[in-house]
Amino acid sequence: MASEEQTIVLITGANGGIGFELAAQLLRDNKYYILLGSRSIEKGEAAVKLLQERELPGKVELLQIDVNDENSISDAGKMVEEKHGRLDALINNAAITGEPQTSASLSARMTAAFLTNVTGPAIIVETFAKLLEKSEKMGRTPRIINVTSGAGSIGLRSDRTNPHQEMKVVPYRTSKAALNMLTACQDYEYGPKGWKVFCFCPGFTESNLGPMNKVEHGAKPTSEGAKPMIAILEGRRDEDHGGYLKAEGCWPW
Ligand SMILES: NC(=O)c1ccc[n+]([C@@H]2O[C@H](COP(=O)([O-])OP(=O)(O)OC[C@H]3O[C@@H](n4cnc5c(N)ncnc54)[C@H](OP(=O)(O)O)[C@@H]3O)[C@@H](O)[C@H]2O)c1
Repeated sequence: MASEEQTIVLITGANGGIGFELAAQLLRDNKYYILLGSRSIEKGEAAVKLLQERELPGKVELLQIDVNDENSISDAGKMVEEKHGRLDALINNAAITGEPQTSASLSARMTAAFLTNVTGPAIIVETFAKLLEKSEKMGRTPRIINVTSGAGSIGLRSDRTNPHQEMKVVPYRTSKAALNMLTACQDYEYGPKGWKVFCFCPGFTESNLGPMNKVEHGAKPTSEGAKPMIAILEGRRDEDHGGYLKAEGCWPW
């Protein structure tokens, strides 16, 4: 069980990529207690083991959570409630691009991208809100970060001079635009209570997201993609709450 002094952070989809790296960076500080979200127990256990082997000062434990599955989200919520009784920060990081690995139809890919990238984060916030409220009652500032992408900016998409115009990825773009709207709705709902809600784009980063997410294609290291979220979690970007943040400044909606 986390102590009262520790900051409990849930990161979904943290068995690899940016989520894993964020967990690793936070664990350098003993104030953090990380709930490492993973839909696969096997991958999650391997990730936790890897982090524990580094003997970092913070604490980490696996939380099985499949963001596509309402029962899994509900079970994860109950588990955190029973064991820790609160949550201080929630990072909706898990996502898919919805790009074809097989011959899946556009309909199937749109549905899959919206389920993981929008419906999941909506249900997770609804489920964990009462645990974030417990954090608020302890005099803390609950924070929610929805990990989005510049690919979801309607302003950038409408700009024909933008160098990334050729990247179609319609399921990804549309689901991240919807995630941005979800963030605005969550900020409307929870902002007046003093909670800080953000969407944050890590920028083009090395990960398992797609075949192009490699350093040789210009992707930045995972450590750089994850790092700005620490400043958000530590309140250094609170003046941007409700915004569409990137490492420095904000994207146009
Ligand atoms: N990398 C970039 O260039 C970039 C740019 C902008 C935004 N982002 C955003 O950054 C976030 C992290 O992505 P990443 O680049 O680190 O990609 P990644 O390496 O593919 O990591 C995605 C994570 O999400 C998990 N996930 C997928 N579906 C899930 C589900 N239904 N339930 C639970 N977990 C699920 C994956 O788990 P499995 O291993 O089980 O599949 C994986 O751990 C995403 O929101 C992404 O959109 C990334």
